[in-house]
Amino acid sequence: MTVLVTGSAGFIGANFVLDWLAASDEPIVSLDKLTYAGNLANLRSVEANSRHTFVQGDITDRELLGRLLAEHKPRAIINFAAESHVDRSIEGPEDFVQTNVVGTFRLLEAAREYYQALGENEAEQFRLLHVSTDEVYGSLAPAEPAFREDRKYEPNSPYSASKAASEHFVRAWHHTYGLPVLTTNCSNNYGPYHFPEKLIPLIIHNALSGKALPIYGDGQQVRDWLFVKDHCAAIRRVLDAGVAGETYNIGGCNEKTNLEVVHTLCDILDQERPRADGISYREQISFVRDRPGHDRRYAIDASKIERELGWVPAETFESGIRKTVLWYLDNQDWVNDITSGAYREWVSRQYQ
Ligand code: NAD
Ligand code: TYD
Repeated sequence: MTVLVTGSAGFIGANFVLDWLAASDEPIVSLDKLTYAGNLANLRSVEANSRHTFVQGDITDRELLGRLLAEHKPRAIINFAAESHVDRSIEGPEDFVQTNVVGTFRLLEAAREYYQALGENEAEQFRLLHVSTDEVYGSLAPAEPAFREDRKYEPNSPYSASKAASEHFVRAWHHTYGLPVLTTNCSNNYGPYHFPEKLIPLIIHNALSGKALPIYGDGQQVRDWLFVKDHCAAIRRVLDAGVAGETYNIGGCNEKTNLEVVHTLCDILDQERPRADGISYREQISFVRDRPGHDRRYAIDASKIERELGWVPAETFESGIRKTVLWYLDNQDWVNDITSGAYREWVSRQYQ
């Protein structure tokens, strides 16, 4: 058997591929457009692995999708491919509609055609798992209960609107065409290979480079952080045992304000890589203009996946965040390649 993973050179997709190949014998065909956020260096350790086939391509390319499905006959598709950065979606929403909405639609259509031609046994097994976000539910008031799966959709950013739209298509392809889909809605991830435009890797990078640590607004926005490998384990579990047509919320029960997160990062760096002048990295914190429409609080109620599928996260925030900082300290070249643009040059040489 084989699985097809899209968005495999991004943060979560790459972690998923690496963990999958380490934990199972099953091959992976991985597809990624290699946008600015896709980085083949994330997959370097499995470059020579005969169970991994990487294809550069776009999920809006219906013909390519049809060809890949016909050639590799996967038993499942796991869709990570997306434009994922809220700030970029505010500046330029078009790509988000193209990849997140049109791309998901094309993938569903390719999967439908493929699924309808499968024999009974293969069709029984087939799943399309769509990876989504808690941001589709909008923003919580301070004392409101965490998001459950039956929460109404109230997306507030172009990013979350595009992800909510993609989920509606996924749902409709199940109800109308009987496509066996699974949807997961996860909270904020952190861990290795996180692109340094997002809060946690950006703060680590800026701290070590002696730059300001930008905190939007008052820094009291709350996110529910989950270590990326726990997210990957949850996806594997949903793929194995989830009920087709169902959605599963995934979260770490780790609600933190942005300021708390940044303080924690500074404190770990103070211990592991103290500044030459002995002053805390907290000194570099700088409050900057808030993000327009900034959601105040996200929190996930993950009781369904725990109750029905037995998944719980392995990491606490404290253990996961320390591992993450140590990974960045050990992988400064990875960060430098991205920030210098060198990895982009490598990709164009490799695929020209
Ligand atoms: P990312 O931006 O790091 O990676 C996205 C990957 O998709 C990149 O490798 C990019 O090259 C690829 N891609 C973009 N457009 C493509 C296209 N048209 N065709 C093929 N590949 C394309 O994002 P991420 O943080 O790894 O997120 C992966 C998925 O998980 C997304 O769907 C996102 O909405 C979801 N998610 C992310 C988080 C989080 O905290 N990062 C939380 C919940 C859900
Ligand atoms: P981010 O990592 O972009 O994830 P998301 O917007 O999907 O939650 O941001 C996490 C939180 O950190 C969010 O509330 C915005 C805030 N933030 C800052 O305060 N400063 C920054 O420089 C960035 C990138 C984010």
